[in-house]
Amino acid sequence: MIDLRSDTVTRPTEAMRKVMSTAEVGDDVWGDDPTVNQLEALAADMLGKEAALFVPSGTQSNLVALLTHCQRGDEYLVGQDAHTYKYEGGGAAVLGSLQPQPLSIQQDGTIALEHILGAIKPHDFHFARTRLLCLENTIAGRVLPLDYIAAACSLAKDCNLTTHLDGARVFNAAVKLGCRVDQIAKDFDSVSVCLSKGLGAPVGSVLCGSRDFIHEARRWRKMLGGGMRQAGIIAAAGIYALQHNIDRLEEDHANAALLAELLGKFDALHIDHGWVQTNMVFMTPPKGTSEALTDHLKQQGILVDPGNTMRMVTHMQVSRDDIETVVKAIVAFYQH
Ligand SMILES: Cc1ncc(COP(=O)(O)O)c(C=O)c1O
Repeated sequence: MIDLRSDTVTRPTEAMRKVMSTAEVGDDVWGDDPTVNQLEALAADMLGKEAALFVPSGTQSNLVALLTHCQRGDEYLVGQDAHTYKYEGGGAAVLGSLQPQPLSIQQDGTIALEHILGAIKPHDFHFARTRLLCLENTIAGRVLPLDYIAAACSLAKDCNLTTHLDGARVFNAAVKLGCRVDQIAKDFDSVSVCLSKGLGAPVGSVLCGSRDFIHEARRWRKMLGGGMRQAGIIAAAGIYALQHNIDRLEEDHANAALLAELLGKFDALHIDHGWVQTNMVFMTPPKGTSEALTDHLKQQGILVDPGNTMRMVTHMQVSRDDIETVVKAIVAFYQH
């Protein structure tokens, strides 16, 4: 199968499984797992933060961050299509009594600074207390410019808001910009990073921030049921991912660019080339053909998500040859 549905489908390689099988472990809820401690120290160091917390998923990492930044009745500003608003089951509202204030996302993935400013509520008991600005990078494959991040975080700080980055794919952003990841992270109070997407670990995310912030976050993780015991077995995969699988993201980006270029030659298919910055391609097929195309590709051993606009994601288990196979299969479908 060539699976383009997401980079979450990556399976651990032999080398990664080997380090998992020999990982030293302990009870991490007691702070006794040396491999988890090593992963947290490594992640904190790479992201330029004082501390980090290993959590089972990106969703829990973001939720722990929101709960740590905000109190009941507080509000966070977030993109209308951001994961922390749209795709996390409303967890912040359900479990934290936090009010999201969704804001429209521009073509380049940013939220306009004037919209951020305009959404901050005055100190008045009619309003929720605006407490946090939450951004996402990459967002649908697009990379936030460094000067935008600096301006947005500085505006937030001037208005007494804290800042969180859903950096599920922040290493894709760093590779694309050719910068260190801590340059992207430095203006945020907290950053969540997924190990189980393009980096290829089977499970886990790390939430990074100040020592005090992570101390509080640890309490929320426990409350949410995310305290894990001999978690070193999966943390070992995370360490391996951070040490071996970052530079190769470049290949995923090149494969996505190739896919967009080859598909872009066919007038029937609309590709949003401006969005093809990292490992995602968004293709709009002719109206009404998406389901049939998805079925046809499945018969050829290619998995994609149907939809009016189809997202195709490259990752470590998709090769350059696979890209050519996919393009041939799509073109064959429309030439019949
Ligand atoms: C941008 C973004 N943030 C957070 C998450 C949540 O990660 P998880 O699936 O590990 O809960 C995802 C998952 O796809 C994501 O794409």
